[in-house]
Amino acid sequence: MLWISCSPLLLLVCTLALCSLTALADKTKSCMEVRKVYESKGFNLNDAPVHEINGDHLKVCSQGHTCCSQAMEEKYSQQSKHDFKAAVTEPCSTLQNIFSSRYSKFDEFFKELLKNAETSLNDMFVRTYGRLYMQNSELFKDFFVELRKYYIGGNVILEDMLNEFWARLLERMFPLLNPQYQFTDEYLECVSKYIDQLKPFGDVPRKLKLQVTRAFVAARTFAQGLAMARDVINKVSMVNPTPQCVRAMMKMMYCPYCRGLVTVKPCNKYCLNVLGGCLANPGDLDADWNNFIDSMLLVAERLEGPFNIETVMDPIDVKISEAIMNMQENSSPVSQKVFQGCGQPKPLPPNTNTRVSRSISDSNINHRFRSYSPEERPTTAAGTSLDRLVSDVKQKLKAAKRFWSSLPNNICKNNWTSGVNEDECWNGSDKSRYMYAVMANGLENQVNNPDVHVDTTNPDIVIRHQKMALRTMTNRMKNAYNGNDINFIDSDGSSGEEGSGSGGCDPQSSTKCPDDFVIRTTEDLDKTKQKDKISDKTVKTGSGAHSSTASFTVLLPSIILLVRLWR
Ligand SMILES: *[C@@H]1O[C@H](CO)[C@@H](O)[C@H](O)[C@H]1NC(C)=O
Ligand SMILES: *[C@@H]1O[C@H](CO)[C@@H](O)[C@H](O)[C@H]1NC(C)=O
Repeated sequence: MLWISCSPLLLLVCTLALCSLTALADKTKSCMEVRKVYESKGFNLNDAPVHEINGDHLKVCSQGHTCCSQAMEEKYSQQSKHDFKAAVTEPCSTLQNIFSSRYSKFDEFFKELLKNAETSLNDMFVRTYGRLYMQNSELFKDFFVELRKYYIGGNVILEDMLNEFWARLLERMFPLLNPQYQFTDEYLECVSKYIDQLKPFGDVPRKLKLQVTRAFVAARTFAQGLAMARDVINKVSMVNPTPQCVRAMMKMMYCPYCRGLVTVKPCNKYCLNVLGGCLANPGDLDADWNNFIDSMLLVAERLEGPFNIETVMDPIDVKISEAIMNMQENSSPVSQKVFQGCGQPKPLPPNTNTRVSRSISDSNINHRFRSYSPEERPTTAAGTSLDRLVSDVKQKLKAAKRFWSSLPNNICKNNWTSGVNEDECWNGSDKSRYMYAVMANGLENQVNNPDVHVDTTNPDIVIRHQKMALRTMTNRMKNAYNGNDINFIDSDGSSGEEGSGSGGCDPQSSTKCPDDFVIRTTEDLDKTKQKDKISDKTVKTGSGAHSSTASFTVLLPSIILLVRLWR
């Protein structure tokens, strides 16, 4: 009935109303998916409209119909900043941890090496020289204190320090080798003036100077380089994104949401341009960073080379005792020359004379040398040799090259983007192919970055400082590699000493050596106490010490040397 009474006009009005209703429903699409995602990020749903609204309020995302309110755009903007920082921090802290842990390992190793060398020298010298050593032990203690100070970056000039050490050692030894005289401090100062001319310690000081300097320069600089790399990464990773970067990140990450495209991921090239623009300044570090890494790899060679710090420090006790042995052997000519230059010293009164010889014989040096067994050999807590540390760190260094320039790629491929699908991805305005080319790395190349406005005229101050620090350190590495221009390779090599006296006496068998356990003095001390086999230049200072009760020994160090070299 109603149908019949309906006039054609009314029918037309009805149809129009229906049409406009469906049209309205089409325009106000549901924002349910967008709200879900928004809520899942922990934001307040009250910000999120249920249906699309007009987007005139939007600052970054495209206006027109949108599921984003002003509050949402602000929240997403903050989220973008957070996402960016997290994305940069992750690979940076991984690399930072690598450098940090390697630094700790090397630092621990070097410090322990020094400690072990000191302990080993102390043990050996107590056994060999007994009280004579203990009365002068602060000389050796200071030697290690200075080495340690140098290593931790103290103001120590190794060459001066070593010269000083030998001069002091000569001042201590000279009166011991000339016990029949008394020496004033002034006289002993005069003695040490002859050290360069007379070379009382033989070639040992010269060799040791070369070895210690080069080994320590390399070790110290390398450790400092590792620590610096760690700090550079830390500082760069804390650089804040510019507002332009945050804006571009927001557009890339969250504007698709506002369009309702919650599952569409950014195109890969698009992401590379956004991250490349955001990381323009760190990207500029690459050249200096790579040079730095290369210089570290060079110095690493010095840590593996024949005169690395481990091979220099391990036998330092043997080397110093070889020097002492040389001094004893050279005692007579050296003393004569010194007497000519500094004047004839005053003889001691006879009663003091005997006190000296007693003090030497008292000095509890009458126990036999016991060779180290390998088990006794100190090992570092790091539990590893330098070789292994170096080959590990070299691998890490190589992998760290081009870190800054590959950072955008590393971040983008970390499931941010559509991956290989370059046609159905968010290109910044649509689900479509991204048309622009990817900009090259670094600040200058960002002039035409289509997605991030980068101020190429004003490099970031933090990055500039890090570049400078890297360049300085690279120079120091190169100097360390050159060992301060020391031509290091010795013709006879520091490990050639075993040639002399091979097949000599065996410290474990009792009879072969003892007759040589004598101290040579410039003049015969007490000819009435002479026993057999004593030349007129050689005197036993120990009263009646003959075989196993050896006195201040000449050959003991060389035996120790032999024993150590044989292992
Ligand atoms: C990749 O995305 C999934 C889900 O979106 C997330 O759970 C995962 O942690 C992401 N992986 C990485 C490496 O970011
Ligand atoms: C994104 O896709 C749209 C539609 O195909 C296109 O007009 C626009 O130029 C593209 N934007 C970029 C940056 O490639």
